Amino acid sequence: MSRTDPHSYFDDAQPRCRHWRLRLNVDFARKVISGEAAIDFAGEAGGILDLDTKTLDIQRVFVTATGADVPWELADEQPILGRRLRLRLPAGTKSVSIAYDTSPEAVGLQWLEPAQTEGKRLPFLFSQCQAIHARTLLPCQDSAAARITYEAEVSVPEGMTAVMSAGPQGDAPAGPGRHSFKFRMPQPIPSYLFALAVGELAGQDISPRCRVWAEPAAIAKAAWEFADTETFIIKAEELFGPYDWDRFDMLVLPPSFPFGGMENPRMTFLTPTLLAGDRSLVDVVAHELAHSWTGNLVSNATAEHFWLNEGFTVWAERRILRALRGDEAASLAWAIGQKDLEGSLERFRDKPELTVLRTHLEGVDPDDAFSSVPYEKGARLVTALERAVGETEFARFVRDYMGRFRFQSITTEQFCEFLQERFPVLLAKINADAWLNQPGLPANAPRFVSSRLDELTALAELWRNGRRPAESQLTGLRPAELVVFLQALPRELSAADCAWLDGLLGLTGRGNYEILVHWLGIALASGYAPAFPRARQVLSTVGRMKYLRPLYQALGRTVEGRKLAREVFAEASPGYHSLSRRVAVSVMEQYPS
Ligand code: BES
Ligand code: ZN
Repeated sequence: MSRTDPHSYFDDAQPRCRHWRLRLNVDFARKVISGEAAIDFAGEAGGILDLDTKTLDIQRVFVTATGADVPWELADEQPILGRRLRLRLPAGTKSVSIAYDTSPEAVGLQWLEPAQTEGKRLPFLFSQCQAIHARTLLPCQDSAAARITYEAEVSVPEGMTAVMSAGPQGDAPAGPGRHSFKFRMPQPIPSYLFALAVGELAGQDISPRCRVWAEPAAIAKAAWEFADTETFIIKAEELFGPYDWDRFDMLVLPPSFPFGGMENPRMTFLTPTLLAGDRSLVDVVAHELAHSWTGNLVSNATAEHFWLNEGFTVWAERRILRALRGDEAASLAWAIGQKDLEGSLERFRDKPELTVLRTHLEGVDPDDAFSSVPYEKGARLVTALERAVGETEFARFVRDYMGRFRFQSITTEQFCEFLQERFPVLLAKINADAWLNQPGLPANAPRFVSSRLDELTALAELWRNGRRPAESQLTGLRPAELVVFLQALPRELSAADCAWLDGLLGLTGRGNYEILVHWLGIALASGYAPAFPRARQVLSTVGRMKYLRPLYQALGRTVEGRKLAREVFAEASPGYHSLSRRVAVSVMEQYPS
């Protein structure tokens, strides 16, 4: 018996699931997906097969070909892992089928009321499986080390559209009031990239291989915002090799989506907070696109190697950004990331073991380990490697690396071994041990310099010395510049300073969420009353955890803020994604009582 993943019952000595054939019936009234999953093996399987499940109601297990019952048992619920489903397969089984229902409490699904959508007419459903929530959608080997292909037939209420992390294979009426959509995913993916969304959706092509999906009311805005995506793909192909997933479509979700983006292959999921109206937040699209190489082609074997996904992808995203927008734009992105990283190191002050890159997560929920560390420390490690060998050499290495491990899931140790073969002294030279196994940011971390960055920090520094910048120095700032400036300001300002800044730049009324949330962080911590209604509005609609955390934190700094936080949480949290709810609760638990 050899389990390879602390977050899964996947056992690599047991039969390997190769392909799923799924029939999924989406029932909005019960908030349940009724599923039948046929799991095909590579050859003939037999004996014990352990699958991950969580909050699933298993109804029947049978040999797909004959319908003969297969003995099964569900183990007791474990807090992080869920319940192990153990099957005893008769010898010679080529495919086993499981009939089951999901639960309305499935962490991997959010069922939205019509009121939580743009159109307000129909409900909405979306999944979010990374890191270990696919098991709440279907019984599976829920480890990134176990890749599968799949096909699915999804039945939804008439008038609604289903999209998946797969290629569409047509749709047709399916009985009274129902419509069914077919999909096929021919490339092997880890279970965490399995994805489904159902809603009132419209699609608009923005290039031959790229379509944007959104609710009808948002589609025009979304198609405009992401119109440059094909340029990103072309640039990424230049940098990393051919795009291997056929299409790159995107779905803009309702605002409760807990992330900025999720790299579901062929159908990236995006938060609507990216719709700033000025294309200034499309770095998230570049990021999810870059995962098509770093993450989806070469995946982390388990959440303990998450930096391989995210560190590489942040590095790749900024390479795309630099190629398209220039050095300055890239430097500002690195600077914004540096502040995020400092924030995470501070948040994990008492848990330094979560600030290493190669983590050890036995008994730790990956959602609780999540922070900017694998992203920003990881991207800095990749940059340190790149600077040590030179950009040209490193570009060649990255292509070789992706060629060597394509459609595989690997560990940090495998990565190091491969690197070691190519560059025998490199790991020692950059002190890889400090990067991978020691907390915090190593002293030899790369710096990203730019004169613009220095100017912006100097402007903010004025404030610490009791002086405001001249109005003309602030009014012309571009979005990323303004974010850098806001990040460099003191966390608390006087009411007069808040009013002056807000009056000059209209910050409370901004629709660009990066600017808005950085501003509200200061305004709320400063007890600046005019910002409170806007904070209430954001917290009652937006579920993106990156924004909820700093807003709930800033509200915790004043008595009035804590009152608002508790009120808005009581009102809005039934509509939060369960992950978002957990973040809000964990921040409020730290409030002084
Ligand atoms: N894969 C992540 C999102 C994720 C990570 C979901 C871990 C669940 C568990 C995605 O690619 C991501 O990193 N999104 C960022 C985008 C940003 C770094 C540009 C986000 O959501 O903010
Ligand atoms: Zn990512």
